[in-house]
Amino acid sequence: MAFGSQTLSLLLISMLCHSTTFAVILRTTENSVWVNEFESIELTCLIESISTNNPRIEWKKIKNSVPSYVYFQNKISGDLEHRAILREPANLYILNASRSDSAQYRCEVAAFDDQKPFDEILISLAVRVKPVVPRCNVPEAVTVGSTIELHCIENEGFPQSQYQWFHNNDELPEDPKTSIKFYNSSYIMNTETGSLKFRSVKKEDAGEYHCHAKNDAGTSKCSPQTMEVYDLDILGIFLKVLGGVAAFIFVTVGLCQLQKNGYCSCRDHRETNYKVPQHDNRLDYASPDEGHFRHKSSFVI
Ligand SMILES: *[C@@H]1O[C@H](CO)[C@@H](O)[C@H](O)[C@H]1NC(C)=O
Ligand SMILES: *[C@@H]1O[C@H](CO)[C@@H](O)[C@H](O)[C@H]1NC(C)=O
Repeated sequence: MAFGSQTLSLLLISMLCHSTTFAVILRTTENSVWVNEFESIELTCLIESISTNNPRIEWKKIKNSVPSYVYFQNKISGDLEHRAILREPANLYILNASRSDSAQYRCEVAAFDDQKPFDEILISLAVRVKPVVPRCNVPEAVTVGSTIELHCIENEGFPQSQYQWFHNNDELPEDPKTSIKFYNSSYIMNTETGSLKFRSVKKEDAGEYHCHAKNDAGTSKCSPQTMEVYDLDILGIFLKVLGGVAAFIFVTVGLCQLQKNGYCSCRDHRETNYKVPQHDNRLDYASPDEGHFRHKSSFVI
């Protein structure tokens, strides 16, 4: 009983004190807000308690630790001029938000007739920017078994874009092993950087590729680009060409030896090189042609 009345009297005292302590107290509905670029947003600065009739209201923008006035002497100033208004009681309403509005905003209310005459609240604003069309880099032609990397990048989006790749309009899963369709593909995808790396390209990897850059504000995509995959062995081609050249030289030298006394003379090397092709077209062109033919046929397979 004694304890109960003590608590009650304490409560009464605190209530009395509270009502006689004239203080300005601010509150906001959210300390961290976001808006899409070109849309509007209201930063709330609610006055919980005040006794002063005409409090001084100010808003400051703090970007990179540098404060600047947004609302000062009953006027909107700075880069928000003509783009913001003050709404009752002390809210800042920003129209057509721009990416440069991303900052911290501080509402400050000074009420000189109150015993605690000052309060402030800080709100951070993030302006989301839709990604622009990403730059996509897809090689036109690659050979089976080679290691290649496709790139997709854009730098305007905020927050930073995430990337998705599509092969013939099918979205590539981040892990190819999770899909029946792409199970055998050797790619490694990085959704943060937009890189799509194939450790060993396969025939089935050929086709059209495009990419999406995506964030909370929207999505943009690049147009599809075709990648062809050839069954071509560079070393094999090189050896064939080399073999062709060797055969050509061999035949030329052989002809010279055989016809030492004839039309072809090995005394003048320059003359020989010019005259041999004229002399026997069929033989001379056979070797390089064969090399060329092989090159082509393996190209098609
Ligand atoms: C919004 O601002 C942008 C520039 O940031 C301007 O191009 C556009 O016309 C403005 N839109 C409106 C509705 O005022
Ligand atoms: C993946 O490779 C295996 C073995 O070579 C084959 O049986 C299967 O059909 C392939 N899957 C696809 C989707 O190509």
